[in-house]
Amino acid sequence: MLGPGAAMAQQEIAVKQDNLMRAQAKSLYTVMLKMTKGEIPYDQAAIDAALAQLEQSVPTIPTVFATNPKEHVVNATYGSSQKVWQNKADFDSKVPPVIKAIADVKGKIKDVASLKVAYDRINGACNECHETYRLKLK
Ligand code: HEC
Repeated sequence: MLGPGAAMAQQEIAVKQDNLMRAQAKSLYTVMLKMTKGEIPYDQAAIDAALAQLEQSVPTIPTVFATNPKEHVVNATYGSSQKVWQNKADFDSKVPPVIKAIADVKGKIKDVASLKVAYDRINGACNECHETYRLKLK
């Protein structure tokens, strides 16, 4: 039996994992994707900062997802599939391609056209993991 303290800790783990994904989404979607669509003006400094954030954040996925929280974030739209912890080595293997995608586009984004290429490249690598390991909850 898990006491309420354990339940709290599990929710904290789930929130920490979700916050990591949300921070990455901020860089990739709120900054880069919106610029590709012209929803916000092209801003080289913001792109460079977004890439730096991703470069720092993505390699931490395997450790941040080291523990199965066994519950989803309250009211979340997305959650982790149990497959993450059943196939942790395969889950972890989805991370280096994202790191490589970021490295490959770094220094090559100069305008909206090259930003689109970079966005697709990185987003494709993110989705390689989401396809198998992310659950849509609502
Ligand atoms: C190794 C696997 C993996 C990789 C790589 C990965 N994700 Fe995720 N992502 C997940 C899992 C599992 C979830 C569901 C659990 C959660 O939300 O924490 C998720 C959830 C999300 C969510 C939904 C958050 C919410 O609850 O609204 C977003 C947005 C997201 N990821 C963005 C990204 C972006 C952007 C990248 C690439 C830069 C990325 N992810 C790379 C595994 C991954």
